Amino acid sequence: MSKRFKVWVSRPLFPDVLARIAQFVDLDAEAVERVHSPEMLRQRLAGVDGAIVGLADRVDASTLAGNDRLKVISNLAVGYNNLDIEALTRAGVLACNTPEVLNETTADYAWALLLAAARRVGAAERWVRAGQWRGAMRFDDWLGVDVHGKTLGILGMGRIGQAVARRASGFDMRVLYHNRNRLSESMECECAARWVDKATLLRESDHLVLVLPYARENHHIIGAAELALMKPSAVLVNIARGGLLDEAALAAALREGRLAAAGLDVYEEEPVVHPDLLALEQVVLSPHLGSASADTRRNMAELAVDNVLAGLGLGPEAGRPPAPINPRVLAARRLGSKA
Ligand code: DGY
Repeated sequence: MSKRFKVWVSRPLFPDVLARIAQFVDLDAEAVERVHSPEMLRQRLAGVDGAIVGLADRVDASTLAGNDRLKVISNLAVGYNNLDIEALTRAGVLACNTPEVLNETTADYAWALLLAAARRVGAAERWVRAGQWRGAMRFDDWLGVDVHGKTLGILGMGRIGQAVARRASGFDMRVLYHNRNRLSESMECECAARWVDKATLLRESDHLVLVLPYARENHHIIGAAELALMKPSAVLVNIARGGLLDEAALAAALREGRLAAAGLDVYEEEPVVHPDLLALEQVVLSPHLGSASADTRRNMAELAVDNVLAGLGLGPEAGRPPAPINPRVLAARRLGSKA
């Protein structure tokens, strides 16, 4: 009997999805959520041919040192700033992610945060639950800012940004965006969105959504200087990565009334939220759940499994993983050389 590959899954997944992998490989799946130290991660990855990992698992050159067994890392996320792609490619390890399947769900959530922050849903809910709604409410209590009819700014215009933009027509909004690469004319038309430079985006947007991937070059792409360009009535939403935003500068802008509100799903030091943000009523906070609908998380898990199996040359898509990040590795494998 031929030897089966071994796959490690770093966090609990839907049992039927795990059962599908187990038809093809020897499976070692974590039964509880846990944080893996770099050393634990190194050891776990040293003993397997493939792995499905989460955003909290940081894989870099030191994690891979001396590992000549690992062939595929399948990330349970579309963003992959937890993976050092250069190091994986050098080591001949295929990296995959879960694009597309979460676009619409994550775009829905951007809107949930924008509306909640603009209309003060978080603070109002806490107030009602605390039993503070006792007498008549003043006519000018709980005033928020309008979303409909305003200008929506989108920083980062990939598939999720485009899905956010498409939803804006229902709110009668003008949509501006800034992205390194401009969309094609037909795509701009479909999204009813106009490209502007970053400073114009910041100055003209009534509300701004961050939807760009994190890379070292865009660390704190929104800091004190950028916030200073925004309207004091603006709402800022971050559904992308915490490192894009200088959280202390954001808290200062909100505290000093230079920005109306913020909706945040991601943080620089997850799961730690900057204490200055925790102290502000006008920030709606959620624990990085943008893609967390039952259907979408299942689709992400299925795609992560397709990636790992195909990357190991198994299953119906053997050798053709649906979402490779460094396809050079596959090409090199076919040629029997190093990527
Ligand atoms: C992603 O897929 O990158 C999300 O941030 C995780 O839900």
